[in-house]
Amino acid sequence: MNETDYGKSRKRVLSGIQPTGEVHLGNYLGALRQWVHMQDEYECFYSIVDQHAILGEGDPADLPARTLDMAISLLAVGVDPERCTLFVQSDVREHVELAWLFNTVAPVGDLERMTQYKDKSQRYDSTPVGLLNYPVLQAADILIYRADAVPVGEDQRQHLELTRDIARKWNARYGEYFPEPDAIIPEVGRIKGLDGEAKMSKSLGNTVSILADEDEVWGRVRSAVTDPQRVRRDDPGRPEVCNVFTLHKLMTDPSLIPDIEEQCRFGTRGCVDCKRIFAESLSRRFAPFRERAEHLRAHPDEVRDVLEAGAERARAVARETLDEARSRMGLCWRSAL
Ligand code: AMP
Ligand code: TRP
Repeated sequence: MNETDYGKSRKRVLSGIQPTGEVHLGNYLGALRQWVHMQDEYECFYSIVDQHAILGEGDPADLPARTLDMAISLLAVGVDPERCTLFVQSDVREHVELAWLFNTVAPVGDLERMTQYKDKSQRYDSTPVGLLNYPVLQAADILIYRADAVPVGEDQRQHLELTRDIARKWNARYGEYFPEPDAIIPEVGRIKGLDGEAKMSKSLGNTVSILADEDEVWGRVRSAVTDPQRVRRDDPGRPEVCNVFTLHKLMTDPSLIPDIEEQCRFGTRGCVDCKRIFAESLSRRFAPFRERAEHLRAHPDEVRDVLEAGAERARAVARETLDEARSRMGLCWRSAL
């Protein structure tokens, strides 16, 4: 693509992440690494979705700090405000208005079938309607930028399918306007936690933070579960069932992998030593993230400026889409009469 095409012909991307307070290796490998790479090729909009986060149990007094921390983590891993638009969802109020418009076409039955809704609604005595509508707001987040592609983790596939359905239903009624965005899901799929069993997830305590320092990394990795059949140091191991080996393949210098595999298989290197190499790989990969995060923590005004400028750019696009949607739905009555 030549210089003059840049920005005009590029396809558009939107993705969102909740301000959870910690970005872990699963988020990074499952979604964020993709966000960073896509900046080269696409026009990217990245949103910290605080209006989704208010469905959780977190203390509202903590939310602003979690939002800022998430912005710092995103910038630290390489989300680059020179090459994308990074903003906070609640700064662009047009999303919630479009979500209401989409509520008029989104089928209740489909929303009730969402796995995340079925799981999470069991935690409530009285389920808030926002939990059911969560994917409708997500569809608005995406479609308000008329995004072509959405980089997300495996667990969001179903929500993306629903976004496509909403676009299709709305277009059928009000005329072709919204694209049906593709989910871009990394091949790694779902990253297992350090327990070697469940999905890596903050709520399960099986994570390692991408901002962990060397000691913290080793503190987490030393207890990671390997091949459960390998009891003694020189027992032969099965790298194909070992989660640490899977993670090695994703994070360790590829030239070291054949040796790591062979030494496991023949029992010539114990699991603790193998985990040490893994911890070193992580610390090395995380070092530049930590450095950038430290700088940004010391300069929160820089982060604020990035989010402010991002919100402004996002708002301009969002407003245009919302105006068109409102008009096609008969809501711009003054100019129509
Ligand atoms: P969450 O932390 O659940 O809000 O997820 C943020 C993003 O990271 C989403 O795109 C998820 O699909 C992705 N993600 C979270 N945990 C994992 C995991 N263990 N493996 C792969 N992707 C994940
Ligand atoms: N539901 C997503 C998650 O839990 C977060 C999200 C909200 C999102 N809006 C989005 C992801 C739009 C992609 C696009 O991870």
